Amino acid sequence: MADDDGNGNGKYRSAGWFGGKNMHGFVHRSWMKNQGFAAENFDGRPVIGICNSMSEVTPCNAHLGRVAEAVKRGVWKAGGFPLVFPTMSLGETVMRPTTMLFRNLMAMDVEESIRANPFDGVILLCGCDKTTPAQIMGAASVDLPAIVVTGGPMLNGKFQGRDIGSGTDVWRFTDDLRAGRMTLEDFLDAESCMARSAGHCMTMGTASTMASMAEALGLQLPTGAAIPAVDSRRYALAEFAGARIVEMVHEDLRMSKILTRDAFENAIKVNAAIGGSTNFVIHLLAIAGRLGVQLRLDDFDELIRDVPFLVNLQPSGEYLMEDFYYAGGLPVVMKELGDMLHGDAMTVSGKSAAENVANAKNHNEAVIRPRADPIDVGAGTAILRGNLCPDGAVIKISAATPALMQHKGRAVVFEDIDDLYARLDSPELDIDETCVMVLKQAGPKGYPGMPELGNLPLPKKLLEKGIDDMVRISDARMSGTCYGTVVLHIAPESATGGPLALVKDGDMIELDVANRRLHLDVSEAEMKRRAAEFTPRTAPADRGYTKLYVDHVLQADEGVDFDFLRGASGSAVPRQSH
Ligand code: FES
Repeated sequence: MADDDGNGNGKYRSAGWFGGKNMHGFVHRSWMKNQGFAAENFDGRPVIGICNSMSEVTPCNAHLGRVAEAVKRGVWKAGGFPLVFPTMSLGETVMRPTTMLFRNLMAMDVEESIRANPFDGVILLCGCDKTTPAQIMGAASVDLPAIVVTGGPMLNGKFQGRDIGSGTDVWRFTDDLRAGRMTLEDFLDAESCMARSAGHCMTMGTASTMASMAEALGLQLPTGAAIPAVDSRRYALAEFAGARIVEMVHEDLRMSKILTRDAFENAIKVNAAIGGSTNFVIHLLAIAGRLGVQLRLDDFDELIRDVPFLVNLQPSGEYLMEDFYYAGGLPVVMKELGDMLHGDAMTVSGKSAAENVANAKNHNEAVIRPRADPIDVGAGTAILRGNLCPDGAVIKISAATPALMQHKGRAVVFEDIDDLYARLDSPELDIDETCVMVLKQAGPKGYPGMPELGNLPLPKKLLEKGIDDMVRISDARMSGTCYGTVVLHIAPESATGGPLALVKDGDMIELDVANRRLHLDVSEAEMKRRAAEFTPRTAPADRGYTKLYVDHVLQADEGVDFDFLRGASGSAVPRQSH
């Protein structure tokens, strides 16, 4: 580039800001120097952006400032120039009405912040559920070299002499309290016993799943997903990531070279082996959409049929992430899957997926089962089809009740979440354990934001009878920490007049997971008649971000991204600011 157009000369992108010997270069460097940076930092060395989603209202990410300091050590050591910048953060337990409403907004923030600034490579600091996919989506649309460094899980919860898991035991305790099996005093005591260190949920919920997904995709360094947030080895790995991203800039190892179709197939198989969250499906589809990688909803089903379910973690099993790390973490799982994976897929370590895990050792076969002795096979997230979900639905087999996987029952319909809360515990509610609970208006446009409401609470009168699971279906998502025979992500959603909107009390619904079928036993003629009567509700917002969201959000089978965000715009910024 010519210097007199305001763009400096230099090997890397950042020279376009810091390399100019003119007014533009003066402006870009001079104000940065007010922080005390010496002149040699602007000599053309790689500038590394550390994209920090730290926030005190995202408790899972509140410690990321310390992780950023470790990354900076590595960047300095390798001859780079580290600069931390904040982005929007999404606190799963605090934000209303749901963080999913804001995932795309955070992705836009990340994308534009990376592109608009003088970065040659980025470290993505994330942790809580949506922060990981939002950062990957945004960064993928810019396509610089990038490494994901997640903040790590909390230590195991400890309550009355036993381990408890975040999320999973909240649902269990809540049912126990409602059924009279737990006192209110114990319930409130458990609160501080569950979240007792920095970090994200330590079950195999969505945060641990997405951290594992980043590692399986080759975007996070080996073992990075499982090291507890407070373990010193997390900070050593973060320092190594800081050094490695500088090398990646020299190698021009961009995200698009790592996020190939093979990498996505690896992630899908690993997700089945770890019993990962159903939210993985939505986020992976959205990431693939940014890169133009062709991924269909049915790929998620076809690729997992033979995959052994190996990781015995809550909510599908017994243990927690701390145990998973001590057992050897994700490298052990990937080594066990061996030839099922694309071993030659490139990763941020500079080595292939197979090379990364060649020396992995399993230190606890109760936590990570060997491939020859799996917990189950093909027990990941199945994709359902049928007249109730023409564009698909999902069910997490490993977290469901085997006896309910083939079930026909009478629909008990809740028109929206307010209707459910108003009638759930009424003695008048005509329901028994053979019924199928149906929730409408909980999809991307309908709620809006597709909240984690799909694991509908069971009616109190059934809990008191000792019933602990029923078939439940909706266009909502559910927390990765949840369990039960729960059909989610029905597409098209009810708010758009999809078949789910047409279900009435008393209709018979058939779930047949073995044949991947979800069927509403109502004639086509009757469905047509009901469809003609369907009246959409008025839009939930007429201005602001929520209007943008409702106008542009895609359905679950397309990853719930915005239609205008699919694809990438690259890293070029053609014009100067002054
Ligand atoms: Fe943040 Fe679970 S609430 S990971």
